[in-house]
Amino acid sequence: MQSQATYNYNVVRQFSIMTVVWGVVGMLVGVIVAAQLVWPELNLGEWLHFGRLRPLHTNAVIFAFGGCALFATSYFVVQRTCHTPLFAPGLATFTFWGWQLVIVLAAISLPLGFTSGKEYAELEWPIDILIAVVWVSYAIVFFGTIAKRKTSHIYVANWFFGGFILTVALLHIVNSAALPVSLTKSYSAYAGVQDAMIQWWYGHNAVGFFLTAGFLGMMYYFVPKQAERPVYSYRLSVVHFWALIFTYMWAGPHHLHYTALPDWTQSVGMIFSLILLAPSWGGMINGVMTLSGAWHKLRTDPILKFLITALSFYGMSTFEGPMMSIKTVNALSHYTDWTVGHVHSGALGWVAMISIGSMYYLIPRMYGKTQMYSVGLINTHFWIATIGIVLYIASMWIAGVMQGLMWRATNPDGTLTYSFVESVKASYPFWAIRLAGGVMFFTGMLIMFYNMVKTMAGEKAYEAPVVAPAAAHA
Ligand code: HEM
Ligand code: HEM
Repeated sequence: MQSQATYNYNVVRQFSIMTVVWGVVGMLVGVIVAAQLVWPELNLGEWLHFGRLRPLHTNAVIFAFGGCALFATSYFVVQRTCHTPLFAPGLATFTFWGWQLVIVLAAISLPLGFTSGKEYAELEWPIDILIAVVWVSYAIVFFGTIAKRKTSHIYVANWFFGGFILTVALLHIVNSAALPVSLTKSYSAYAGVQDAMIQWWYGHNAVGFFLTAGFLGMMYYFVPKQAERPVYSYRLSVVHFWALIFTYMWAGPHHLHYTALPDWTQSVGMIFSLILLAPSWGGMINGVMTLSGAWHKLRTDPILKFLITALSFYGMSTFEGPMMSIKTVNALSHYTDWTVGHVHSGALGWVAMISIGSMYYLIPRMYGKTQMYSVGLINTHFWIATIGIVLYIASMWIAGVMQGLMWRATNPDGTLTYSFVESVKASYPFWAIRLAGGVMFFTGMLIMFYNMVKTMAGEKAYEAPVVAPAAAHA
């Protein structure tokens, strides 16, 4: 095995720190938009109102927090499992600074109101070009490292990271094709229903590849590491990979049920979404069963708690998603807070929890420590975050079903039973509960930030060690 000193940990360290920093910032904006829904007076002026802060929240949590976590972990895992330092270290450094520049430009341009109007692809064309350049550089560093590996096989985590990197490049470049009319305004290269179709081919695969495949790469490395057990079934992981990437590609139209999209395409989207349950659960089971023989560790190891709870939420949201893609169910759930609940059971429960667990593994190792400053604080973070998620998603489910039922209720003479504003009024208590859950999750991120700074400073809290040194793969 190559000595640690030769690995390029600098860029991993930079991305790890920024994962926590952007996590705090993005979730603070989430808390603000949640508060604006409870107290509309908080819509302060044109730059800070809900309509401009909401895309800032989604971009910050997905691309800044999630993106930095993916860069950090993929750069770490590819080096460790290929037994070789990163290819083109200068380019790797460029991806760090380039990505931070993208985030800062997003944080300036979105509140100013510059937007392409495409969800999760709001940034205007000059920033899109920068994203494409950074992403192609990322692909060169990652696949270059794979090419010069010292091991004979490519560990499964790298398949998932590689699939995520290639697909996101394709999605971003195709969906962002646009005709610029000025430096800050462009129009999509596609028109009408084709534009909607391409947007949700992008949108759904952003979920499938940005918010899922890359994080599954994390799962396949950090769960076995932390559990000190090999992956439950390597064969299942290979089937999982190919089945997942093939199926995700076709499911996008479930975002466009009952629209001008031809009905048969909606049905194709629904059927592939239902099929998607199988590979998703195959992967979840593979991750959870990796704990076979090590279940007792869940009692004492809070990092493992984060990782396994993440997998449970992954299973839950990938059961819920296929159900919501059934046209008759979607007729009730679409446009309601049920969708927002589904999003956050995936985003907070899966994406954030797996990233947080992986970061707690990674950060001390990046600073030459065996564990974080305080394991007790990791445990506190775990509980406050988990309760926060439950409050968030349970309130959104109830609010969503209630809204759907109120909107479709009719009187015997065919008129609507409720006006829209009555459904808004009825939603307030649930929005307040969501805010409470969000504040709890955000508080957990602040605790993590404090724990990270103390770990970096080299301080050690007086606690019995519960995290064993790394073993097994690489
Ligand atoms: C403290 C934590 C968080 C809070 C309080 C929060 C709050 C919110 C709120 C209030 C909305 C707008 C809902 C609406 O329009 O009715 C929203 C949307 C969204 N958030 Fe979060 N959020 C948090 C964390 C996250 C994280 C970590 C992610 C992703 C990794 C995420 C992804 C999203 C997405 C994708 C949407 C758009 C949903 C849709 O269009 O249906 N959020 N969030
Ligand atoms: C088998 C897997 C999944 C399927 C079939 C699925 C299906 C769906 C469906 C049917 C919707 C509602 C579309 C609508 O009515 O507008 C939806 C929305 C959404 N889902 Fe999933 N989902 C899955 C997993 C996930 C996961 C794991 C995440 C997050 C990590 C996620 C994130 C989202 C987001 C962000 C939206 C909101 C999109 C928007 O309208 O802005 N999904 N999903």
